[in-house]
Amino acid sequence: MPTYRAELTEVGAGTPMGELLRRYWHPVGLAADAGERARKVRVLGEDLILFRDGQGRAGLVYPRCAHRGTSLYYGKVEERGIRCCYHGWLYDVQGHCLEQPCDEGGGPRRDKVRQPWYAVEERYGLVFAYLGPPRKKPLLPRYGCLEELGPGEFIEADDSSLGSGGAQVVPCNWLQHWENVVDPFHVPILHGSFSGAQFVAQMAQMPKVEFSATERGVKVLSLRTLADGRVFRRVTEAVMPTLRVVPNPRIGSYGKVESIGWVLPIDDTHYRIYVSGRVSEQGQLGNMRSKMNGKSWSELTEEEHQRFPGDYEAQTGQGPITLHSEEHFAASDKGIALLRRFLEQQLKKVAAGGDPAGVAFDEESAYVQFEAGNFLADSVAAL
Ligand code: FES
Ligand SMILES: [Fe+2]
Repeated sequence: MPTYRAELTEVGAGTPMGELLRRYWHPVGLAADAGERARKVRVLGEDLILFRDGQGRAGLVYPRCAHRGTSLYYGKVEERGIRCCYHGWLYDVQGHCLEQPCDEGGGPRRDKVRQPWYAVEERYGLVFAYLGPPRKKPLLPRYGCLEELGPGEFIEADDSSLGSGGAQVVPCNWLQHWENVVDPFHVPILHGSFSGAQFVAQMAQMPKVEFSATERGVKVLSLRTLADGRVFRRVTEAVMPTLRVVPNPRIGSYGKVESIGWVLPIDDTHYRIYVSGRVSEQGQLGNMRSKMNGKSWSELTEEEHQRFPGDYEAQTGQGPITLHSEEHFAASDKGIALLRRFLEQQLKKVAAGGDPAGVAFDEESAYVQFEAGNFLADSVAAL
């Protein structure tokens, strides 16, 4: 029977990967998504409600009202929290029930009720949530590439789709996209010829590649010798829990990675991407998206999707959850093999009661510097 590896792909609460991913913070929306209108979000297979109270605090709560179960999606956001439409119970961003207006005195037993809620924190233009055990909650990491800004640079967030275009919500398993990060060989094939050179010419050249495990994931070093003899050194990283640390494939300038992409598993068969990066112009992250046949992804006809496929087509083409039992690995898949092994090790650590890679409980270890970037050397000897 063709099968997939459930322990690596399924993200629901109580599953091995679901519990591993729940030990980290995940982006659940742009800062602007948390507003005075309740918004449905789906994260790791859980349906939740995101809002921002009148005091500016973002909240993420379970939709079913603790009273008699209608959805807080129809609730009204107020100064102190969200008020259920049915009998007016008011909950703050931490689920405390502040008012029960149908009961005398505002409900003398209201402090006995707690609406299920999750911790949220905002950074880099995104709202991050922690869905794991409260006593294991790590610090929300800071990333050097988003903290150390150059002159005129600022941080912008984007949620519009994959780098090479696609729908916002991609109907396949999150790991299919995350594995793509450590698969540099698909770049000259899929993005260098099939899609019609999506990136710059030096990216179309087949690189010499070294893969290695790091303390936070897997690193890919790609070397290409340019026509003038100089060596283009590109480092990309897949970092726990789902970070895509990929320098701009259009190589506007050399240097450390400009942005981070988070692969958010919506559920077992859907994911979406949140990106935050250093930019010098508003809208720069969205504008970097590739054009296929001179068009954006949503403008393509069915035939153009076939003739100019990109990441969306390649990854959804693997199926809702790819069948791992049917794969045939070659030497060029070493990055994927390392990433799966890395994930297996983290699953073991969590099962044994330990902390997985990259969770940090003090400010110093929560500050992360990546190796990723596009660099140029005069020669191989100068590397
Ligand atoms: S069901 Fe929400 S207040 Fe009654
Ligand atoms: Fe790709």
